[in-house]
Amino acid sequence: MQRRSQMLRQDGRSIAFVPTMGFLHEGHLSLMREGRQLADILVVSIFVNPTQFAPGEDFATYPRDMEKDRLLTEKVPVDILFTPDEQAIYADGCQTFVTPQALAKRMCGLSRPIFFQGVATVVAKLFHIVNPHTAVFGEKDFQQLTIIRRMVKDLNFDVNIVGAATVREPDGLAMSSRNAYLKPEQRPAALSLSQSLREAQAQVAAGLIQAEQIVAGARARIGAHPETAIDYIVIVDPETLKEVAVIDRPARMAMAVGVGTTRLIDNMPLVP
Ligand code: PAJ
Repeated sequence: MQRRSQMLRQDGRSIAFVPTMGFLHEGHLSLMREGRQLADILVVSIFVNPTQFAPGEDFATYPRDMEKDRLLTEKVPVDILFTPDEQAIYADGCQTFVTPQALAKRMCGLSRPIFFQGVATVVAKLFHIVNPHTAVFGEKDFQQLTIIRRMVKDLNFDVNIVGAATVREPDGLAMSSRNAYLKPEQRPAALSLSQSLREAQAQVAAGLIQAEQIVAGARARIGAHPETAIDYIVIVDPETLKEVAVIDRPARMAMAVGVGTTRLIDNMPLVP
């Protein structure tokens, strides 16, 4: 992959890159179509990265379907589908990690303390291997996108990071590979995330600016479903990810909620 990228660059071609963990859905495909527009060559990786899963998380059972994924990427079309195995990426384990600091110690970082270190490390490795001009990440994982932007700045990667809007099911549920875990009877509970975010957007548009009140509304709406367990619901500054008390400028509302044994995340912008 490194050699091919080097040759493409020598031929004057620009490279866009979309890293994924596979089990592709329309959200991933929208990132690929965006990448397609941004460069001559589109590279997509599929690698379920072990270092971003803690013991007891779903690494072993994470959904995988390489044959279906391959067919979906052919339709975009993708020029290079890079599917390294664990041995290729972590041949000798890993002694050197990229560890994001304050940005990784909030929100998802509280319940998943090694998650963003695993993400930053594998994305840094993939950037070195693929050497893209541009890489596309989804706003669905807003904290991840923020941390990658900051890593690129802090470590002087010559990669332009593009954020792409969240793709949703017609009923509003943010698409996710982990939605495959949801049982049909859990759907109303799963939908309470996007519903409470939309309600918050409407409240802010109508002039409510107290973050605490808006978060309380979301807690009530989601908590009304007995199978939910709220990890966090926050309204943050989009760059620092620090909580804001008053929404007097654009902010981001983000949440992680367990529905049965499935952990869902979602977020939306709040614009006063
Ligand atoms: P994965 O969960 O497979 O997601 C790959 C990319 O797709 C991420 O940038 C994610 O934000 C984006 N994405 C997922 N669901 C989306 C949706 N509904 N709408 C728009 N974009 C969506 O995120 C990862 O993999 C990994 O952490 C990775 C960055 C590949 C590192 O291992």
